[in-house]
Parts: sequence; structure tokens; C-alpha cells
Amino acid sequence: MPLARFPKRFLWGASIAAHQVEGGNHNQWSVWELEHAKSLAAQAKYQYGDLENWDDIKKEALDPANYISGRATDHYERYVHDIATAKKLNMSALRFSIEWSRLEPQEGRWDSAAIDHYKRYVAELKRQGIEPILTLMHFTLPVWFAEKGGFEQRGNVKYFVRFAEKVLNELGRDITYIITINEPEVYAFESYYQGHWPPGQQSKRALISVLSNLALAHNKAAKMIHGINRRYKVSIAKNSNYFYAGDNAVLSIRSAGVMQYMQDDYFLRKVTKTCDFLGVNFYFSNRVYGYRIHNPNERISDVGWDMSPDDLEHVLERLHRKYKLPIIVTENGCADASDEKRQWWLTRTILALQRALAEGVDVRGYLHWSLLDNFEWDKGKWPRFGLVEVDYDTLERRIRPSGKKYGAFLKRIRE
Ligand code: FCB
Repeated sequence: MPLARFPKRFLWGASIAAHQVEGGNHNQWSVWELEHAKSLAAQAKYQYGDLENWDDIKKEALDPANYISGRATDHYERYVHDIATAKKLNMSALRFSIEWSRLEPQEGRWDSAAIDHYKRYVAELKRQGIEPILTLMHFTLPVWFAEKGGFEQRGNVKYFVRFAEKVLNELGRDITYIITINEPEVYAFESYYQGHWPPGQQSKRALISVLSNLALAHNKAAKMIHGINRRYKVSIAKNSNYFYAGDNAVLSIRSAGVMQYMQDDYFLRKVTKTCDFLGVNFYFSNRVYGYRIHNPNERISDVGWDMSPDDLEHVLERLHRKYKLPIIVTENGCADASDEKRQWWLTRTILALQRALAEGVDVRGYLHWSLLDNFEWDKGKWPRFGLVEVDYDTLERRIRPSGKKYGAFLKRIRE
């Protein structure tokens, strides 16, 4: 892997999210899983049958149990071990999320055992010299909040802000970086327009109001947090994939630009005023011909995403130019069960980060998705994103060769 200059305080690490790793959650997602596991398994062949790796995944993908997070990786109980692994891999930061449904299982009732758990969690990160990067909402909601209409109702934003305030009061002392909402547009789009995620709506009107309410939720939470102390650094985690024209046709060039704008700026324009930095999640690129996306697919990941890690440079450069905020890459990685491509992905990504830095982009950190294999939402457990492999039967962990390489790179770069 390349070795070059990165700023001394550059944050190096990985990301996880509560529902995907903790196990034992009861929230709007876990309820939905139980209702949909059978139909997701029944549709798997139509969803994934065209993937090159279908033969490898079909056993899991056709099994309803795959679609139920259940005990996931049991990270809630095994976090000390997992944080020790992050340390062993020489990471200086870990992004994780607080599960709102644990803290406030019923409206207005705070669970002190859950609060104590997350206090111990943050204390453990600190003890290991790992900077906690805390996410408040990573796609999951308490059941009571979802039943009130979730973020579709503007009046519900206050509950999110109250939750954020509770987290800050309880854990704020040891925290600097806070992500209010993970990928607001992905959440709104999948849940309210595509209907793939709970509550499974397909409504343009709902999509638009959820987006506007999520922006409000971020802005209000950020103002509240800054009101407590200006030292906090707040952002959303923005999904930003790269769109580019596949040919010189004016139409292709224009529509790639429009798609990039719609993906990035429609939402960012509503929230960047209250952001201290920009969290950026980058996974793939889209090649545009006319109005259509047609990717080269020279390399694709296990979930069928086009792998173009070099393009991270362009995404960072564009966002820096437009918003002039420091950037932390809050997610980036690939589903690669055989671990044949992850090391290549990491190398190309680190080179892209270097080029962005050399062009003057103020990048402050890189967090790989993910530390551990985890429950990948409506796809379930078969996609393997971890630097660390998890055996879902025994819950044993094994650092993948690419994870070891990343750890060795971090050792050298941080010396
Ligand atoms: C992102 C999500 C994250 C994970 C990765 C693969 O969109 O934020 O939870 O599912 O994709």
C-alpha cells in the first residue's frame, strides 16, 4: 500500500452502525424484518440471480433467516473485544451509532442501563486512544416514533432533537464528532419512494416531506449541540457517488451534471450552514449515457456495485470546491466475501485520498466500511463488508488478510 504524507492528526479507522452489528435490537427495522423475511427470500433469485456470485450466495439469500438481524454480530456484548481489534489494527477513530430505541424504548422513558452501556462504550474507545465518531440516526427508529409517523411528520422532529440532547448530556464530555443523520436521502428514498425499507411507502409527496423534515431535524439538532458547546463538530454523513458522462454527447454531459447535483446539492444546500465538516460516504460511480446509467462493470463487488475507487478523488474535490468545509470520509468499502478485491480497493482509495490532499482538499479522516461483517439491511447477512470476518454461527471473528494489510499500513503511516 502507498506510503506518503498525510496530516499528522488525520483520523484513520472504520465505521459500523448499531443495528447492523449489535444484535438484540427492537426497533422499526427489526419489526419489519420479521414481517418481510419470507418474501425477501422468495424474491432473492429475481433480485440477485444475475450476480456472478449467485452460486456462492444463493444458500443464504434463499433462506428467510438471512433477512433477520437477530443477534447480528453480538457487538453489544462483544464491543470490548471489537474495539481491541480496532486498536490492534492501529486505528485512531471508530464511527458507531447510538441506538435510539435502546435509549428511549418508550416515549419519554430513558433506559439507564442502555445509557450506561454507551458510556462504557465511549470510555473504552477513549481508553484505547480511539476517537469516537458518534452517529445519532443510522436508519433505525424506536417503534413508538415510527408509529407516530416518524420523520414524515414535521411535528415529530422535536423528539429527535430531545434524543440528541439526551445523548449530548450523557456522553458529550468525551465526544467531539457527531453525525446527526446517516445518508438522509438514501433513507428517505428507500423507505418512502422505492418502498424497499420500512415503512415501505411509495409516495413522492412523502419522500419530499421526509427530506425536508430530515434537514430540519439536522439543523435543529446541530444548533442545539452548538448551543451546548461550540467545540462540537457536527455533520450529516452524505452519500456521494460519482456521476460522469460516458461519451462527449452534450446530453450525457448535462445529465451526469444534473444527476450529481440532485444527489449532492439538493439536500446539502439545506444543511451545510450548520455543518462544521462534511461526512462523505462513497461506494460507487455511475457512467451516464443520455438519460441512462450504464456502468462498465469491469470490476463489480459482491452486491453488484461498480467498483471505481479512484473516483473518490473527484467526489472530494467537487464537494470541497462547492462547500469549503473540511471532509471526513465517513464510509467507503466493498462487499467482498473472498477478500480478493478489498486490498486493491484500499490501495486505490488511499491513492485517491492522497491526490485529493495534493490538490488542496481539506480531508481530515478516512473510515472504512466496515470494521466487521454486518447485517446489510434488506439484503441481510450475505454481503461481507468487514475488515474482520464474522462467523454468524459461532460469532467468532477473524481478521481478513486485507484487514491485516490495512492495519500494517496504518502502523507505518502513523509512526
Ligand atoms: C451505506 C450505509 C451503511 C452500509 C453501507 C454498505 O449506504 O450507510 O449502513 O449499509 O451502505
